[in-house]
Amino acid sequence: MDATNDFPPTGAPKNSSCPIAPMLADGPQLGEDSFRRVVEWAPSAMVMIDLEGIMVLVNAQTEQMFDYRRDALIGKPVEILVPERFRQHHQAFRTGYFNDPQPRPMGVGRDLAGCRADGSEFPIEIGLNPIATEAGVMVLASIIDITERRRAQQRLEDALREKTVLLNEVHHRVKNNLQVITSLLNLQADFAADPRLRAILAESCGRVKAMALTHQLLYERKDFSRLDLGDYLDRLVQSIRSSYRAAGNRIGLRLMVPEAEVQIDLERAIPCGLLVNELVTNSFKHAFTGERQGEIVIQIEEGKESSVCVSVADNGVGLPPDSELAQGSSLGLQLVQLFVEQLHGTLTIVRGEGVRFSMCFPKSMAEKETS
Ligand SMILES: Nc1ncnc2c1ncn2[C@@H]1O[C@H](COP(=O)(O)OP(=O)(O)OP(=O)(O)O)[C@@H](O)[C@H]1O
Ligand SMILES: [Mg+2]
Repeated sequence: MDATNDFPPTGAPKNSSCPIAPMLADGPQLGEDSFRRVVEWAPSAMVMIDLEGIMVLVNAQTEQMFDYRRDALIGKPVEILVPERFRQHHQAFRTGYFNDPQPRPMGVGRDLAGCRADGSEFPIEIGLNPIATEAGVMVLASIIDITERRRAQQRLEDALREKTVLLNEVHHRVKNNLQVITSLLNLQADFAADPRLRAILAESCGRVKAMALTHQLLYERKDFSRLDLGDYLDRLVQSIRSSYRAAGNRIGLRLMVPEAEVQIDLERAIPCGLLVNELVTNSFKHAFTGERQGEIVIQIEEGKESSVCVSVADNGVGLPPDSELAQGSSLGLQLVQLFVEQLHGTLTIVRGEGVRFSMCFPKSMAEKETS
């Protein structure tokens, strides 16, 4: 016991009329009537026991909760309120508690149960308070019936499990439907005589694949709110690479990710994936003309204030002048601008040896809204 606590208080005023009224170290003593009133009108069940574990005071809530009349409790061991299988353990616990009586919750981390007069059990939470009285140290236990809370928690857990199963199914189906679309586009490409049309269909196919991959990853990870950007981009660029097999070993592909996972929500993952899809596809298609060799580097970095920066760079022939780009009727770079806007991000293009596109955007919608 902490000696500085002065518990039970030495030299506290005595209450001759009520041995269970608490003795206070300083100030006026709480009289028996006031003490009993406080206990009686407490919103939880209150049970006061002496050193032997005998109940010396109970309130109306205790009668109601355990379905006993007050006179059937006073003078009885508190263990009658404990399920039979826990009684022995409870006695040992009680003795231990009196060796070092401190205000604290009982049995933290364990499921506690109360036992009604008819033997039925219910889950409870107990707060223990040592009280110094003229008759010695007693313990005032405050007991709450947590049956309703448990039920509500169970209902929530069941509802969550059900939603998880549904979401899992939805992502699985979306992914499957997107795969059907890619198969249809592929089929159409096979029938198209015009090589330009075939290329357009193949690019559309790539875009649909990039979207399907997000759903596949969410489904695989069973986390439907966020995904690991490094894992996503890794699988995405490998899939793009497999469409440009002809480039063989001529074009290297490197993905640089920070050590810690960068997680982004689905809302950002799709535009971010589509963006990287356009840029990496462009590098494969345009940067290494003829037999030119080189490398495409995709880098993910944690940016300032919960933002993420993704860059796609290649050391190929470089972008044509702006004037030429403006004249073109291509879709890819326009989509890039659009996705950056959708991500509330910024885009920087550096022309040097090849070209480097850098995008920085907040990791989730909430970051943007609160910033
Ligand atoms: N990494 C790159 N290296 C060299 N040139 C590039 C690169 N990326 C884009 N370009 C040039 O910019 C042009 C516009 O790119 P954009 O992605 O908008 O169109 P595209 O790839 O030709 O067609 P699509 O609309 O199918 O994407 C390309 O035609 C190409 O000339
Ligand atoms: Mg393009």
